[in-house]
Amino acid sequence: MKAKLIILFFFAALILKAEDGYRLWLRYDKISNFTLLDQYKKQIRSFAVIGSSQTVAIIRKELTNAFSGLFGTPYSLSGNNNSVSFLAGSIHSSPIFSSIVLKEELNRIGTEGFIIKTKPGKTIITATTDIGVLYGVFHFLRLMQTQQPISNLNIVSSPKLKLRLLNHWDNLNRTVERGYAGFSIWNWHTLPDYIDKRYIDYARANASIGINGTVLTNVNANATILTKPWLEKVKALADLFRPYGIKVFLTARFSAPMEIGKISTADPLNDSVQQWWKNKAKEIYSLIPDFGGFLVKANSEGQPGPQDYKRTHADGANMLADAVAPFNGIVMWRAFVYNPESNDRFKQAYEEFKPLDGKFRENILIQVKNGPIDFQPREPFSPLFGAMHHTPLMMEFQLTQEYLGQGTHLVYEAPLFKEVLNTDTYSKGKNSTVAKVIDGSLDNFSLNGMAGVSNIGTDINWTGHPFAQANWYTLGRLSWDHSLSSGQIADEWIKQTFTSDKKTVAVIKNIMLNSHEALVNYMTPVGLTHIMYNGHHYGPMPWGNTLNRPDWNPVYYHRADSFGIGFDRTAKGTNALAQYAKEGQEQFNDINKCPDEYLLWFHHASWDHKMKSGRTLWNELCYKYNTGVDSVRSFIKQWNSLEKKIDEDRYRQVQQLLNVQLKDAIWWRNACLLYFQTFSKKPIPSNYEQPDKTLEYYKSIRILFAPGN
Ligand code: GCU
Repeated sequence: MKAKLIILFFFAALILKAEDGYRLWLRYDKISNFTLLDQYKKQIRSFAVIGSSQTVAIIRKELTNAFSGLFGTPYSLSGNNNSVSFLAGSIHSSPIFSSIVLKEELNRIGTEGFIIKTKPGKTIITATTDIGVLYGVFHFLRLMQTQQPISNLNIVSSPKLKLRLLNHWDNLNRTVERGYAGFSIWNWHTLPDYIDKRYIDYARANASIGINGTVLTNVNANATILTKPWLEKVKALADLFRPYGIKVFLTARFSAPMEIGKISTADPLNDSVQQWWKNKAKEIYSLIPDFGGFLVKANSEGQPGPQDYKRTHADGANMLADAVAPFNGIVMWRAFVYNPESNDRFKQAYEEFKPLDGKFRENILIQVKNGPIDFQPREPFSPLFGAMHHTPLMMEFQLTQEYLGQGTHLVYEAPLFKEVLNTDTYSKGKNSTVAKVIDGSLDNFSLNGMAGVSNIGTDINWTGHPFAQANWYTLGRLSWDHSLSSGQIADEWIKQTFTSDKKTVAVIKNIMLNSHEALVNYMTPVGLTHIMYNGHHYGPMPWGNTLNRPDWNPVYYHRADSFGIGFDRTAKGTNALAQYAKEGQEQFNDINKCPDEYLLWFHHASWDHKMKSGRTLWNELCYKYNTGVDSVRSFIKQWNSLEKKIDEDRYRQVQQLLNVQLKDAIWWRNACLLYFQTFSKKPIPSNYEQPDKTLEYYKSIRILFAPGN
């Protein structure tokens, strides 16, 4: 009896162990399935890692920690290379590897891929570089952490994308634009002399999911970062990140030659300006020989750029590209541009960039946000993805949830990302998906990539909302292999982050997989867009019409009137649809065929428009807003069923946040329906909850000092 009690107590303690989320998905807690644990232990009786690089030292440490944790007993390197049952190392490090691996397999993995094989009595992980071995080791540990069989492995894996990057919108004063997880993790004040342990943990977490680059600074750039003392700080980070396979990049402020170079112009065709950038690049590379290159936001939202001198984006980008080219650097030039003169913000990036297709140097990528406006809950794909066959385009997703409930809403973004990647642009006939554009396979570009605007900060759990970690995880996994499904990524993440208990995994997965659609429903259903609060973008403000620029105001986007609602982008309207290939246009052009979820993106539809469901548009809006609220209620119910299944701390944290999310969803539903009702003049059907406050009340809500703004 006593023994039983002790055992029970032991398990309860295990389950309820406090978790602050700092360990992310790299927890290495003891494997709970004893049969499996036994098998793993038998297979990994002894291990060795061959090599002497810093990366190899990192691999040794990782395996020692991981095996000790997963097996529940201290575990260390043992035995010689020939006799150990688990061996990792680059292909050049021992003939053992080449005796097991085929030449053809090696040719497939490039410099970052890996091979994992099991032979009787031996498991090997190898690659052409130590970084590849590191990725292979993390893959193997992921299999163990998610309790997969490892006894019969024959894995040959390499990344589908070359650049797998985080974009930090971190300012030098440590505030983070659109950051909801505290301050910037870059403590510039104490760099380069003081190395926060977090930098190493950050690099390790990124390496574990294949992220190989980080843009340290905000796209709304500060030229100071390019001065000597600050470059020394950047160098300190670059030196730390290198053994983890991570390169650093910086944002380049276009007017830097004027601000820190004392030149009177930043005209990209001016010789002294060009020379200034060349010298600057030389200086940077003398400190950081593998510096990745620059990310540039130019002539957008007040940022300086080549158009200030009547030059084109290509002129500006080429100047920077020429400066970094001798050092193998690249330039990522952003396509996020819009100006108040355009009759439709949707069209602007295409209008500015399409004519420049093919005019960019070979070391330039154009970085395009997934949609034509700005990281909205749902957008059709940016028409640029179907328009630039002579210029590599890279994807920019936003992990930080600026328009997706920020730090308080549980929104798993993989379904959003997958939706975009799987969309057919039809630009070279059927099956010209966005994924094929960005992985370079459609137009044969070897330079390709995906970036995620980071949601990382100084919060103990890195990302604020515990589930926001999943979006960081997704960026890594999808940029390695964009064919992975949202379900598989969620599955992996949950098992590593919370538990492998089947029922618990199923509940959490169900919440995650439905969370994006729920948010779309309670915020911007049927193709509504950009009706968030001015400035901070938290909460609804569909009535917003006070900002100077029309395209900053919500009323610009929904165009509600007594007839109906939505933005007419057909030939009768702004004709933005003409920017898509014929088949793409056909999907959206006919109001009766346009998928409901995109209706108001492309049509000004009457309140009585008949939707696919058979409901009128007005009733559909009422239905969707209510469905969104109901989904959050169901998430709460499901989450509450997990008490004691996961640790107390994160259980309570998520529970409280879900309650905030419900309050917000109701706020969104009531405010939007009451406001749109002033145009539709129709009742909210009586089977739905009726708003308990007035429109005036919702209009009077002010959120002061919202984070990230
Ligand atoms: C959005 C966001 C800005 C950001 C901009 C960008 O507009 O609100 O904070 O600077 O995107 O992507 O450049």
